Amino acid sequence: MDRELPEELFGAGVVGAPMAGGPSRPALAEAVSRAGALGFLAGGYKSAEALAGDVGELSATGLPFGVNLFVPANEPVDREAILAYRERLRPLADRLGVDLPEPRWADDDEYPAKLAHLLENVPAAVSFTFALPPAGDVASLRTAGALVFQTVTSAQEARAAEELGVDGVVVQHAAAGGHFGSFLPGPAFAGQLHELVSAVCAAVRIPVLAAGGIGTPQDARAARSAGASAVQLGTAFLRTPEAGTNPVHRAALADPAFDRTAQTRAFSGKTARGLENAFMRDFADAPSGYPTLHYLTAPLRAAAVAAGDAHGTNLWAGTGWREAREEPAADVVARFAV
Ligand SMILES: Cc1cc2nc3c(=O)[nH]c(=O)nc-3n(C[C@H](O)[C@H](O)[C@H](O)COP(=O)(O)O)c2cc1C
Repeated sequence: MDRELPEELFGAGVVGAPMAGGPSRPALAEAVSRAGALGFLAGGYKSAEALAGDVGELSATGLPFGVNLFVPANEPVDREAILAYRERLRPLADRLGVDLPEPRWADDDEYPAKLAHLLENVPAAVSFTFALPPAGDVASLRTAGALVFQTVTSAQEARAAEELGVDGVVVQHAAAGGHFGSFLPGPAFAGQLHELVSAVCAAVRIPVLAAGGIGTPQDARAARSAGASAVQLGTAFLRTPEAGTNPVHRAALADPAFDRTAQTRAFSGKTARGLENAFMRDFADAPSGYPTLHYLTAPLRAAAVAAGDAHGTNLWAGTGWREAREEPAADVVARFAV
């Protein structure tokens, strides 16, 4: 590794993962940063205005923090397959008394406004996932003073990110909770997280953060021993009181009846890992098509949460979910810090 990350941000060796869809409310990022790690806000699914509100709230604390953005990929989708999926969801929608929305084909058209806001209100770090952003966006953020990170899932993706000019990569293993941020074709890495970290460290000269399935401090140590400058933890924070995890998700994480995690496209059209439930089993062959499926299933998921039905909504969780505790975020940081 040629470059080092600043000690004041990464000295604890822990980053609080951005978790869009509720968990990463400002209170969680604040608690993580206050405990000496680096907290992240999630910019995904939010309007630019809502993100600006979160950024304002965190900035007022004077603490360092990061912001994560989903990069619109605008991949071609099979519209027929998505319309057929919509028909398959209809009986469930009827049962729940929910109107299925018309498909929304475009990706996040507020990405430019979110980026513009971050260039004016510069956080300590910005991370990107789902695709590589334009090189100009990386350069502008770095010039403005932010450290820029890219989520990658292989050595090949890490090299592409390094060529783009980022300060570091977040190496995400397929054991991770939530969406899998791969952007180049190819199978997911077959070995363990620490092996993936070693492979990426051998391929690039920029710092590496390790994410995915880290349930215990021993897992974190293995990732650091393999060369990671820090670990990025998501699932470990989901049951903390500061997280905005909805009550149905929170209860399911502690419910022994949920006994495995699996990857699925059923909720959003993009591969993500969560506690396996009936929705995932019923729609195991869902087509790809992010974010069209995300918006299509959103009212169904909201109705399930309102009804307290853990089998009708996404329960994102990494493979280490059994280790996640109901404890303050500062205690999670303390357990995993170097
Ligand atoms: C509920 C949830 C939401 C997530 N949302 C995001 C997100 O908005 N942006 C992102 O880059 N990663 C997101 N992730 C993935 C995390 O950044 C990280 O890779 C993952 O949590 C690490 O694996 P772990 O959950 O096993 O610790 C999310 C993960 C979870 C569990």
